[in-house]
Amino acid sequence: MATIREKQGAAHTRIMGVGGYAPSRVITNEEVCTWIDSSDEWIRTRSGIESRRWATDEETVLEMSVQAAGKALAAAGVSGDQLGAVIIATVSHMHQTPALACLVADRLGTNGAAFDISAGCAGFCYGVAQASDMVKAGSAEYVLVVGVERLSDLTDIHDRGTAFIFGDGAGAVVIGPSDTPGIGPVVWGSEGDKYDTITQTFPWNEPPTADEADTGEDGELRGPFLQMAGQAVFRWASYQMAEVSHKALAEAGITAHDLDAFIPHQANMRITDRLVKVLDLPEHVPVARTIAEFGNNSAATIPLAMERMLQDGSAPHGGLALLIGFGAGLVYAAQVVTLP
Ligand code: UT7
Repeated sequence: MATIREKQGAAHTRIMGVGGYAPSRVITNEEVCTWIDSSDEWIRTRSGIESRRWATDEETVLEMSVQAAGKALAAAGVSGDQLGAVIIATVSHMHQTPALACLVADRLGTNGAAFDISAGCAGFCYGVAQASDMVKAGSAEYVLVVGVERLSDLTDIHDRGTAFIFGDGAGAVVIGPSDTPGIGPVVWGSEGDKYDTITQTFPWNEPPTADEADTGEDGELRGPFLQMAGQAVFRWASYQMAEVSHKALAEAGITAHDLDAFIPHQANMRITDRLVKVLDLPEHVPVARTIAEFGNNSAATIPLAMERMLQDGSAPHGGLALLIGFGAGLVYAAQVVTLP
């Protein structure tokens, strides 16, 4: 009987380039406080958010992805037609099918494999893990990973628990072969028993009945929106994600002292502070705190922060960074990477 020939890819992989896109419209805490009963001080103290970016009508998930991808490709020195695969992490592409990745791939000039992944705020780290494995397995030489969100489309501006948190934006990386290890083992998982802690107000195919419907002044059905059991998610992220961070460092064979940057998902500044403390992160290690300016734009927070830290010189090119994403599912993923 004939045997199947297998393929072998690169021995090692790395992030070759990163690019981000932050929408132009700045939403201040003052503006948010015209929608909900809150204050600039409360929002800053409880979340660390000073402003967030919301996309205009022209800043679609496709346009933001293409912008971020273009920058990542240029930084990597890879052309669109060299991409063997395009992976998009998003929860705000409003079509169940087809995937946003197909449109992005087409715009970038590749017919490579293209698919979306739904892993909430862990989506970017999930994509990095998948892309790295694909390059090692030989199923693609260069893979684009994009985290993009327009959470403003899914935000109930009258919900006190979420209206101030979410933002929009995109970040992208190109992953390809490397002579030395550049992407450490992923530590990832899910806790489906907490499925309901971050979810939609109703499924797309089950709109509420006329009696239950939340309608605006024009009588139109509002939503679905994202809803979150804030405290439960906060506790889970603060404690369990510290453990996951430790494991990712151990799997990569390094300690917190070897890090040149810590880039956690930007969910809440207090969660970041808690992770820094539990990791016993040395003071010289720069920490991503872009939530102050951009809010929580889910799958986009980590690549956007990575680009920002490299641009402003707070993190060094070629340095080691710990990434950790966590969110709806609940799901999480962490890995140590070499910064491009
Ligand atoms: O990205 C995916 C993962 N997401 C996360 O990790 C988010 C995790 N959760 C959080 O970041 C936080 O839970 C929030 C920022 C969402 C909320 O902060 P909190 O400290 O957990 O607030 P809380 O819900 O415990 O509310 C504390 C108090 C309450 O008042 P009382 O009962 O103590 O008098 C709330 O009524 O703050 C009140 N409150 C507000 N006050 C002003 C709740 N929301 C607001 C508000 N403005 N917007």
